[in-house]
Amino acid sequence: MTGIEITDVTAVLALGSIALFVLGLKRLAKVRTSRSGNALMAAGMLLAVVITLIEVGRVDYRWIAGGLAVGTAIGIVIVVRARATKMPQIVARFNGFGGAASALVAMSLFWGAVVEPASAATTATVLGGTSAATMVLSVLIGSSTFSGSVLAELKLSGRIDGAPRIPVRAALMGLLLVGGAALGVVGAFAVTDTTLAAGLVVGLLVAAALAGIVLVLPIGGADMPVVISLLNSLSGLAAAATGFALANNLLIMAGTIVGAAGLILTQIMCKAMNRSLVNVMVGGYGGDGGGDADTEYTGVVSGDAEEAAMVLEAAESVVIVPGYGLAVARAQHAAHEVAKALAEQGTRVRFGIHPVAGRMPGHMNVVLAEAEVPYEQLAEMDEINPDLSQTDVVIVVGANDVVNPAASSDPTGPIGGMPIIEVERARRVFVIKRSLSPGYAGIKNELFERDNTVMLFGDAKEVLDSLATELSA
Ligand code: TAP
Repeated sequence: MTGIEITDVTAVLALGSIALFVLGLKRLAKVRTSRSGNALMAAGMLLAVVITLIEVGRVDYRWIAGGLAVGTAIGIVIVVRARATKMPQIVARFNGFGGAASALVAMSLFWGAVVEPASAATTATVLGGTSAATMVLSVLIGSSTFSGSVLAELKLSGRIDGAPRIPVRAALMGLLLVGGAALGVVGAFAVTDTTLAAGLVVGLLVAAALAGIVLVLPIGGADMPVVISLLNSLSGLAAAATGFALANNLLIMAGTIVGAAGLILTQIMCKAMNRSLVNVMVGGYGGDGGGDADTEYTGVVSGDAEEAAMVLEAAESVVIVPGYGLAVARAQHAAHEVAKALAEQGTRVRFGIHPVAGRMPGHMNVVLAEAEVPYEQLAEMDEINPDLSQTDVVIVVGANDVVNPAASSDPTGPIGGMPIIEVERARRVFVIKRSLSPGYAGIKNELFERDNTVMLFGDAKEVLDSLATELSA
């Protein structure tokens, strides 16, 4: 017996760190426990950093302190400048950062082991076959995740509009991915000339970045949620591949957790959009986000908060359907006030949550949780739809695509086939939005012309504030 070795201690701590990740993830699944889940995962990450520093041993801490300072400064600037409505773009950016970090770490491993010492051997000989192969994988996935996420962020912020078709897209993407991987494999396994090997690996980096652009550029309309969750999953897989390249168990496990969670989310988003992943990837449907917007409306009826309050006072059941506009207007507190006023008069109130409402997975859950809307009042689309024909009033707040009947009446349109919250089945529908402008998919919404629909034009927060005042008067 030689006593306890440092590797035993770090192995036990690593298990503790992973346990914190898994427990945190479990707690994130429910709004009520999500804050503590987040704190547990942050503690797990801190532990992982400490373990890595212990394992690495003799390192120049000035680099680590410098990296920490730069990273913290960038993080603080992003978060301080961010408004809650920019959250989806920030999530897309962080996915991209994850991918870029993985690709850069893999590249630095290759550079440090082969290029700088001008080794006369192949990367596989210097680093070992597994490290060399996973380095290629990490650069491939990480670089495409980075470019795809940057593009997704630009699309979500509206700085890039539309979704241009790319001819022979599937073949082009296949060529870039397979060709890029081939460059990397040749560079890592067959070339001893360091300049040539470096050139080939940089070629892999560029080809993968182009593949990310080809993946995301033509996607629009209804398919963006799928792509965002897929990029989230890929950022985890890139980290896991880097973990293999570095032989770092913690990174492998943390990356795998993110990759698997992202894949499950992708599956949920595919179901929500009624798309298959293959279908989205090859761009079979929904490619022209921002459709041709035939937005000529006839017979639209509009009203005001006073009239709406009179109808609501007589209602026994009310469903509030929030969408992206609620988040933009920061109207979640006002929506909660309306719900409370209705509940006080004995009305049953629920919030109907569409899985892709807003601009990021769980967007509506996050904003409603911020306003402390009780979790029991939230009902998923599948739960609320069967009840809508017996519902007296639906209030649609800044939602458009997720309540648009065109999903079934126009099966080939940008949202064709997407399940929606079928609000038109309620006795009365109030739609709160500022104008008749289309939603994210850029198409007309026939709901606005229906006989039982009344438009309450205005900013969501202002209209809901007036409604709450009328109801409490
Ligand atoms: P949208 O269809 O985008 O409609 C939002 C509506 O909010 C707009 O029509 C807008 O109309 C209104 N609005 C904006 N600001 C407002 C304000 N201050 N007050 C009141 N209304 C306001 O939203 P949705 O129904 O939530 O659907 C989400 C869409 O985004 C889907 O097509 C989905 O595929 C896509 N998407 C989702 C995600 C995820 S992961 N959830 C990611 C990317 C894309 P006015 O301008 O007339 O006010």
